[in-house]
This record gives sequence, structure tokens and C-alpha cells, in this order.
Amino acid sequence: PGQAVLDALQRPLRDLRISVTDRCNFRCTYCMPKEVFGPGHKFLPHGDLLSFEEIARTARVFAGLGVRKLRLTGGEPLLRRGLPTLVEQLAQLRTPDGHPLDLTLTTNGSLLRKHARALASAGLQRVTVSLDALDDAVFRRMNDVGFPVADVLDGIEAAREAGLGPIKVNAVVQRGVNEQELLPLARHFRGTGVVMRFIEFMDVGASNGWRLDDVVPSQQLRQRLHAEHPLHPLDPSEPGETAQRWAYDDGAGEVGFISSVTQAFCGECTRARLSTDGRLFTCLFGHQGLDLRRWLRDANVDDETLRAHVAGHWAQRQDRYSALRLAATPEAEWLRTRQRVEMSFIGG
Ligand code: GTP
Ligand code: 5AD
Ligand code: SF4
Ligand code: SF4
Repeated sequence: PGQAVLDALQRPLRDLRISVTDRCNFRCTYCMPKEVFGPGHKFLPHGDLLSFEEIARTARVFAGLGVRKLRLTGGEPLLRRGLPTLVEQLAQLRTPDGHPLDLTLTTNGSLLRKHARALASAGLQRVTVSLDALDDAVFRRMNDVGFPVADVLDGIEAAREAGLGPIKVNAVVQRGVNEQELLPLARHFRGTGVVMRFIEFMDVGASNGWRLDDVVPSQQLRQRLHAEHPLHPLDPSEPGETAQRWAYDDGAGEVGFISSVTQAFCGECTRARLSTDGRLFTCLFGHQGLDLRRWLRDANVDDETLRAHVAGHWAQRQDRYSALRLAATPEAEWLRTRQRVEMSFIGG
């Protein structure tokens, strides 16, 4: 125990991303389009969700396998009632050599004003807020429920006041939709200590109608930003990091670019994902996932057994979808046409 498990491509298991609800109060057109997630959509019944105890136990088992970073996601994680209680339980966990885990949360920010303080007191260290536009009309159109941008900005402020930091803000960039928001977003957060990151629109799930033409390559975005505010590259802060980090030459802080499409980072992908109903996905482009819930609910299965199941599954992992798609292999085509899990179900 404590020894990192390596997958079939020699990648250790380092991060666990936990989806605590499949619901969201937004209907971002690229993630939960209304045609698919309308009034008729069936979300998971409560009994299908992992309980906080089940999640904490799973996280403990993963910590024993070398996981150092936990991220709570959704849907929108702040819709899960009593979330600070879970945060408290996760904050108790330690790596085999006795360190607390990096504990963070990805949220759309709409409920942060309400919950930031309770989350911070429970032991949450930082948050990442998704924000795709600074222009109110563009933002309302993208979240498709008319949610005002001012309330998300206020949520970010609340997180800062609560000491949840360093705060990151993520924007998914889609050509013809919000690429003009690059400079306004960058300017807004420059010099504030908040790290703005721009993400290439990905072909996750099966409902967002993705086309390669909709992707604005990070390199273009970076050049546009550089023309106004000169940038220089920073070294990665850890291996397998999603974002390429850049700093403003004038000292106004850092920005990041997540090039999941044009520069896939599968080679160092150390991330596992736990779906709301307790299935383990070893790739964002996964298909079925390994059902951990049946073991969690089986009194004959102890932690040691659970750990062995997870370790065995990770050891066989060969996922590298984004890299295959980039290389346009037949395997990628096959993976792409089969039914895939939705992002709102396993979190970003
Ligand atoms: P930090 O530790 O805060 O830097 O977090 P992170 O970048 O690991 O996580 P975050 O949730 O902020 O990820 C940002 C975005 O990167 C996600 O919303 C996804 O769009 C993308 N992303 C994260 N992990 C993966 C991954 O494993 N594969 C791919 N293809 N994209 C990913
Ligand atoms: N491509 C890239 N990122 C996405 N997210 C959701 N769908 C996509 C997609 N198709 C991101 C959101 C948010 C996190 C929950 O996942 O922007 O940051
Ligand atoms: Fe909700 Fe985030 Fe998906 Fe938007 S991107 S619908 S906020 S889960
Ligand atoms: Fe990891 Fe899969 Fe994303 Fe590649 S596509 S970085 S293997 S989650």
C-alpha cells in the first residue's frame, strides 16, 4: 500500500474527480443542451447516488493507491445538499505518508455567495469557476437559463473573501460563440490573482454536436492575447497538468491554455473519475465505467478488496482518446461513434 499503481502506459493514478450530482441549474449549450436535458429528462433517483460515506470511503481507498488530488464536480456540485459535510470528511484524508490531499471544487459559481464560507470552514482549499463570457448577453445565451454574469462575478468575490484560493476561472471557447470574449475575460482578471484559463471546446459526450471547426486552437488565442499583453511561458507546476501556463511580462499574473484538442495531454494523464452513481471512468471519453457501487454496498467487500479491484482496473488502463483523435486513427473513429458518457455526468 502507498505505492503508486501504474496503468498499461506507465501512468500513475494521482487525481480523483468526483461527481456529486448529475443535475445543474444551467443548460450550457455545449454541455447540457435543453433539447436533451429538458423537462422530460430523467436524472438519477436519490438512491442511485453514492452517499457521502460511500464517497469518502472510495476517496480513502484511492488515497491509499497514490491519489493526491480530489476535485468535486457535477453537474453543479453546490446543488448537492449538505456538501460541506462531505468536504469535512474528505479533508480528514491523508496520503500514505501523512499529507492532506489537495481538495478542490469545480462550480459554475451561481451558488458560491451562499456556500463559500461554509465550504472553506469545512476544509475546502480552493475553487475553479466556469465562466465563458464577460458580456452579459453572451453569457446568458451560453448558460441558456438567462443567468446574469454579475452574480457569477459576485460568487468569485465571495470565494476570495472566504479565502478559497488561488481561484481559477475556466472558459470553454467556441468559434463564433464566445471567442471575442478572450480579451475582456483576460483583462478583467489580469492583476487580480485569479488565474484565467481558456479551454478548447472538446467532443465529449454525445449531445453537443461538436465539430472540429468549432475549436479555436489555443495557440491562436495565445497569440491574440500576446499581441495586446505580452506573455512568456512558465514551467509546469506538476507533471500531467492540463493547462499550459503563461505569465504576463508586466507582472500582472498568470493565464492558462488547455489544449485538449490540438495538443492532447493523454501521455501524462493521471486522472480517474467517479460518476454520481459510483462508476469509475478512467477517461473523459469513457464508455461504461466500472461499477464500484455494488461493492460499496456489499457487506462482504472490505477496503482491501475494493482497493485490489481498483488497482487491477487501473493497471489495465490504456485510454488515450484525445491523442488517438489527434492522430485520426481508426480506433478513434470507433471510439467516437460508440455511446459515450456525458460530461455533466462525470464532471469536467
Ligand atoms: P487544476 O488543478 O486546478 O489545474 O485543475 P485541472 O485543470 O486538472 O481541472 P479543471 O477541472 O480545472 O479542468 C479544466 C478543463 O480541462 C476541464 O473542464 C476539461 O475541459 C479539461 N480537462 C480536465 N481533465 C481532462 C482530461 O483528463 N482530459 C481531457 N481531454 N480534458 C480534460
Ligand atoms: N469541452 C471542454 N470543456 C467542457 N466543459 C464542459 N463541456 C466541455 C466541452 N465540450 C467544462 C466546463 C466546465 C467543466 C465542468 O467542464 O467548462 O469548466
Ligand atoms: Fe452545468 Fe457546468 Fe455543464 Fe454548464 S458546463 S451545464 S454549468 S455542468
Ligand atoms: Fe486522459 Fe482520456 Fe483526457 Fe486523454 S482523453 S487526457 S486519457 S481523460
